[in-house]
Amino acid sequence: MSGSYPESSSKSAELYNRARRVIPDGASRSTVLIKPHPVYVAEGEGAWVTDVDGNRYLDCNNNFTSIILGHADPQVERAVQAQMKKGTAFSFATELEIELAELLCARTPSFEKIRFCNSGTEAVMGMIKAARAFTNRAKIIKVEGSYHGTYDHAEASLGSDPSNWGSVARPETVPYAQGAPKSLTEEVRVISFNDVEGARKAIAEVGDELAAVLVDPMPSRVGMPQVEQEFIVALREATRSVGALLILDEVITYRLASGGAQTIYPFDPDLTALAKIIGGGFPVGAIAGREEVMNVFTAMQGDRAAVPSGGTYTANPITMAAGLACMKELQKGAFSRLEIVGQMIRSGLRELFDSSGLDWQVTGAGSLFRIHPHRRPIRSYRDAMHSSDESQLMLDFQQLLLEREVYFSGYGMGCLNLATSDLDVEHFLTSVNDTFKAIVAK
Ligand SMILES: Cc1ncc(COP(=O)(O)O)c(C=O)c1O
Repeated sequence: MSGSYPESSSKSAELYNRARRVIPDGASRSTVLIKPHPVYVAEGEGAWVTDVDGNRYLDCNNNFTSIILGHADPQVERAVQAQMKKGTAFSFATELEIELAELLCARTPSFEKIRFCNSGTEAVMGMIKAARAFTNRAKIIKVEGSYHGTYDHAEASLGSDPSNWGSVARPETVPYAQGAPKSLTEEVRVISFNDVEGARKAIAEVGDELAAVLVDPMPSRVGMPQVEQEFIVALREATRSVGALLILDEVITYRLASGGAQTIYPFDPDLTALAKIIGGGFPVGAIAGREEVMNVFTAMQGDRAAVPSGGTYTANPITMAAGLACMKELQKGAFSRLEIVGQMIRSGLRELFDSSGLDWQVTGAGSLFRIHPHRRPIRSYRDAMHSSDESQLMLDFQQLLLEREVYFSGYGMGCLNLATSDLDVEHFLTSVNDTFKAIVAK
């Protein structure tokens, strides 16, 4: 072992210095950048990963919720190895694509047809384009603070703050990436999660210019609040009454049940975006939904489709083989186990908050949870948004957990995989308990 994270003598520190010479910021994904430097992983197995210095961590992030069986799952490995021998990418269709499509359509009643792509970002973008083509309208409504990937329109108001977010009843549309087209503020309207009146009003006002309302059933950046029944009903009724679509982002929440969160919460969407777990650990995305709408991707007898779509690696056989192997392993028992593990973590955390005297709380469902360093009731983004002190506290929390062999996101989001044992849960809670003691002592 060369050194523990975050010692400057560690191999991770050395790799980071090397990376910064050729990669802006040292990594292609800003999400792996933690201070003072990223952890460089050598390998993962089950619920644990080992870094290049030989330090082990219980993985409570799981590649931002894309790993569900566990790292290096043997079934996925076998399926991928077998396909590797036959070739990795072709300019031909393969049967694997049909098999995965059939499996997903059989699991979720709203999936009459499905098309694959390469990421959740691409799936959400394609879903918005499909809704626009189907309705022949350009505008969308999205939820303040909700993350849907990096397409400009889907990013609107992702980072709103008190200086620019406007009133709760009528949140401002705030572009996220610098230089995003100004027209975006005309084309995207923003609502607060669980705000029934605000949603109904916005949908009615945008009216016959509205293509779709985009919503995530349990948005992580909004704090993973429980979606309220009246909000779901309002979105479905109001979109129908103006002839717009309800489009659901289940990129993360598809891991909550065999048919996704929409089989728990009655959204009845027209289209759904998927990604993450359905690729079994390989890059993937998909758009699924009502046949009538999905037909925008159909090129009729040589004509161009209303929404042309391609992608060099779309539905590549490695991703399809891995996705199939993974989804086949995910039977009902798997989701019950994930629910149990998630419950153990959430109730264990609540006990620790009380015993350590910290005014913290935890939200989430199934294998997903989010820790908040405050007790404000959380219904929407503004309730959950961290002050700068709270952000720093969560980063400190992440660091202290790393030192205690737990890898956890820097903003409080946690995610468990199926390989997580009861002993692992104990390890997590013991590490959190020690971390709390260190925080209280400070
Ligand atoms: C809810 C949601 N939608 C879309 C995306 C984008 O997916 P990807 O990172 O595969 O582009 C993410 C990624 O974290 C997400 O959490």
